Amino acid sequence: MYADASERQEDLPLDNKPCDPDDTPVSRPMAPTFAELVAKRLARRQVLKGIAATGLAAGPLPLAVASHARSQEISATAPFSFSEIARGVDETHHIAPDHQADVLLKWGDPIFEDTLEFDPLNQTVARQLRQFGYNNDFIGFIPLPGRNGNPRGLLCVNHEYAQGKHMFPKAWRDDPGKAKQLAEIALAAHGGAIVEIHQHVDGTWKVDKTSPYNRRISALETRMTIKGPAAGHPRLKTNADPTGTKVIGTLSNCAGGITPWGTYLMAEENFNFYFSGTLDPASPEAENFHRLGLPRGEHGLGDLFDRFNVAKEPNEANRFGWVVEVDPFKPDAAPKKRTALGRFKHEGCENALTVDGRLVIYSGDDQKYEHLYKFVSTAKVDGEIRENNADLLDDGTLFVAKFDDDGTGTWIPLTFGEGPLTPENGFLSQADILIDTRLAAGKVQATPLDRPEDVEPHPSGRVFVALTNNNKRRADEIDAINPRAANLWGQIVELTPERNDHAADRFTWELLVTCGNPNDPETEAEWNENISQNGWFVCPDNLAVDPQHRLWVATDQGKNWNRASGNADGLWGLDIDGAARGTGHLFFRAPVGAEVCGPRFTPDGETLFLAVQHPGADGTENYQPFNRKASFEDPVTRWPAANSQTSHPPRPAVLAIRKRGGGPVGG
Ligand code: FEO
Ligand code: CA
Ligand code: CA
Repeated sequence: MYADASERQEDLPLDNKPCDPDDTPVSRPMAPTFAELVAKRLARRQVLKGIAATGLAAGPLPLAVASHARSQEISATAPFSFSEIARGVDETHHIAPDHQADVLLKWGDPIFEDTLEFDPLNQTVARQLRQFGYNNDFIGFIPLPGRNGNPRGLLCVNHEYAQGKHMFPKAWRDDPGKAKQLAEIALAAHGGAIVEIHQHVDGTWKVDKTSPYNRRISALETRMTIKGPAAGHPRLKTNADPTGTKVIGTLSNCAGGITPWGTYLMAEENFNFYFSGTLDPASPEAENFHRLGLPRGEHGLGDLFDRFNVAKEPNEANRFGWVVEVDPFKPDAAPKKRTALGRFKHEGCENALTVDGRLVIYSGDDQKYEHLYKFVSTAKVDGEIRENNADLLDDGTLFVAKFDDDGTGTWIPLTFGEGPLTPENGFLSQADILIDTRLAAGKVQATPLDRPEDVEPHPSGRVFVALTNNNKRRADEIDAINPRAANLWGQIVELTPERNDHAADRFTWELLVTCGNPNDPETEAEWNENISQNGWFVCPDNLAVDPQHRLWVATDQGKNWNRASGNADGLWGLDIDGAARGTGHLFFRAPVGAEVCGPRFTPDGETLFLAVQHPGADGTENYQPFNRKASFEDPVTRWPAANSQTSHPPRPAVLAIRKRGGGPVGG
């Protein structure tokens, strides 16, 4: 991640690059025996033969084929009819012809009437707490009743992390006397924003700074409650909170979700980066910390805040890594950390209903060799009385996925007393299982995956899972779902629950696409044979389904984009049905150094909100016209402004994308 200590120092504070492809895995599965390897390869060949025999449009197994046939009836996925743009990399964004991208919100924009305009040379904690945060990731949209015929809604946006090197002048970063203030500004730029927006007659969306719903949630000061089976457990108690039920802030909020009752779920991902210091080697938390890569400590926050110092407050780290539920309609209510959903590096909380009306929340654990999870609520969602869902997420079953090489799989419950999850193996209660979710998943032999990121349920009942990459996977570790060693490119899995019911404990699966350049045999990429030279992509991260049931894929290659594809990240439409299945279509290209996050469509499909994260930051040394690392003083781009129009650094921003003249985006 960091080449040397001097670079680490230069990057302070909070330049954590949480999803860097060079991120070190903390877990490596046991090497399989030779006999297991042979069996796996054989099974993989049989899966591939099945795909060849039935065509890419059908699954290798009778069940998957039957399920697809049913899903095609349900989904009637529309074709993509926009003209693709060309792949490439430069200092601005590009979008398909006949579409326009308006900048709706960018880092530092005031979201309240009384907030001063952004000025990077006069930035303060107080201002940042009233401004749009940094590094926008997940976007949720909750429609509100229109006003004067104009559509309105609440935009819920995660702010994943901060980057001091691009946010603050070098003189500030070099001044030890400013370290705490900069760390506080950075923590204030984390978290989330809820902003009311409305659409004008000319189609443009604007922020309503007078809305009573507007809210900033931060890592610095937002008070939250801890709920569910682990709430109040001794391992969650600290000096500041002897109850184990109250915590300040949320960290590293990556993808997320919106529940059917209109609450906003924020997934805590790379929280280990915020803790530093040395854990007492005799601490009972040693195995927990090791399994999560705690403390990662680059930020040195433990020197500035006791709660981030694991020598002083070893339990504080147990209060992060959860899913946070926020009620956007109660702007004064404390967000709730829902421990029933487990503690790991949550990426995304998209959800769906079971056939009998319970809620299922899917979550990847984004690190190399980690797992895929689902939570199934005990109670049914009440579609009539919203309040009855207020604590629905506190009671349910957490499952982890096991993928077999024959194209089937099982959801294994992580329930106290079941299988190996007993006191003999160190789990004294359900709270222990939830705090140590990764350890529990390992005990039940869940499948280690190539960085599971966003998980998107589709209206057909299928579920799409983005596996971003895993450059550390060895040749002796490949299996059917992780079929390549040194995987720089990632793959997308299509999972079909048995009986088309998200409650089922069995499923079938197949790879929808194996990413990479199809013209480079070394990648072993597998796409529809008719894919264009712009249609393939690598490192799938955030997924979205539009109102026409089409799948969209946003990518994040990290700093190794030059090796993974040689092109900027972007947003692609990806056909999932019929003869075109497995064909990508390049719709949007980000500026150099950015990843694309949070695709979210309005219910009419006529606006697409898209988050451009860390513009001008990742791997700028590999961008030949620039050829060096960018910084506040020396930016590669000042996106979204033109370089000649501002002295501001580049600013992460949410775009509102529409088709000129109206109609569905991408239509
Ligand atoms: Fe924050 Fe895994 O992307
Ligand atoms: Ca990512
Ligand atoms: Ca992500």
